[in-house]
Amino acid sequence: MAEVVLRKVEKSYSNGFRAVHGIDLTIAEGEFMVFVGPSGCAKSTTLRMIAGLEEVSGGDIFIGNQRVNALPPKDRGIAMVFQNYALYPHMSAYDNMAFGLKQQKLAGDEIDRRIREAAETLELSQLLDNKPGEMSGGQRQRVALGRAMVRKPDVFLFDEPLSNLDAKLRVSTRVNIARLHKTLKAEGQNATMIYVTHDQVEAMTLGDRICVLNQGRIMQVDTPINLYQRPANKFVAGFIGSPAMNLVTATLERTETGHELVLGHGERLRLPEAKASQVAHLAGRQLWFGLRPEHITLADASGATPNQPNLVNAPITAVESMGNESYLHFSMGEASFVARVPYHSHAGLPGGERKTLCFDLAHCHLFDIDTEQSLLREE
Ligand SMILES: Nc1ncnc2c1ncn2[C@@H]1O[C@H](COP(=O)(O)OP(=O)(O)OP(=O)(O)O)[C@@H](O)[C@H]1O
Ligand SMILES: [Mg+2]
Repeated sequence: MAEVVLRKVEKSYSNGFRAVHGIDLTIAEGEFMVFVGPSGCAKSTTLRMIAGLEEVSGGDIFIGNQRVNALPPKDRGIAMVFQNYALYPHMSAYDNMAFGLKQQKLAGDEIDRRIREAAETLELSQLLDNKPGEMSGGQRQRVALGRAMVRKPDVFLFDEPLSNLDAKLRVSTRVNIARLHKTLKAEGQNATMIYVTHDQVEAMTLGDRICVLNQGRIMQVDTPINLYQRPANKFVAGFIGSPAMNLVTATLERTETGHELVLGHGERLRLPEAKASQVAHLAGRQLWFGLRPEHITLADASGATPNQPNLVNAPITAVESMGNESYLHFSMGEASFVARVPYHSHAGLPGGERKTLCFDLAHCHLFDIDTEQSLLREE
């Protein structure tokens, strides 16, 4: 039961490489915080500094109000679950879970009680006598989770714990981790969880909040839905969401009737007044225009009328069908776009055909051309 606070935390490796550039972050007691970001952005480095496996080069880390910079990992009240479960191959699942507790000199019946409880939560009760070699990847990963659980840590640290599992096991183990967080909470053990992943679905479904990192800096910390709907900058806009948000430069022009975005190929898109009023001072300037694939629809399929604004005629360059929906790739000059449409709306549509697409700018995002920060205030 502990809040985790990072204050101006920095990391320089011995070769001089600065991996972390001053991170400020407060993770509430009992919160499920997810770190996401591209490979090399310092997710693991940050987690390992919290764990005490990596020294902090600057700033402070607090766990439950205690400054832990100089505290060894075993005294931090944390348990860590790694990508490679690191189980002892010659020990049964039971003994793997018991190992750390025996070292702590816990009474035998207390050890037994904790293991049976964890095994029940993780649906491992039938497998306690099996050795790692006699279990599936998902079962082994659950034993690794159990081994962390039985220690009853204040803080759980996960570093891509599911990345070795196949798609189906990832889903069930993910659900297990979410359930574990809720179960512990219900039992009054308000465990804080910090979870590193580069999998968006894991981030969106597990996190109370998500911390998006890029090159050792925090880009945004917010709830999954806020990150998706109100990205604070172009990086987060492009990183969260799949297929990714369409992002192109455009020039903002003032017209007699309002404001328009002029795209690279001369296409004009009318900006709704609610957005235009926030960026009117930038008329004549360039900015970044972002629109999620689901906010571009096929005009003929949506029953659009000819006088509907923001219709664009463009050649479809590729169609990807997911079964339930399809991604239409189309180009406008140099820029390529993706629209995400219901499957039926383009049945039989061959690549290369020109289509009329409707851009719903009520949902668009606008970012400063230089700072790449959002130009729209939060609504
Ligand atoms: N021991 C080290 N010495 C020098 N540089 C290192 C060391 N460990 C990591 N780095 C560098 O620090 C940066 C952050 O590494 P880190 O492992 O934290 O990234 P990550 O976000 O976990 O990436 P991934 O998603 O690939 O696991 C990378 O550029 C990496 O090359
Ligand atoms: Mg990593």
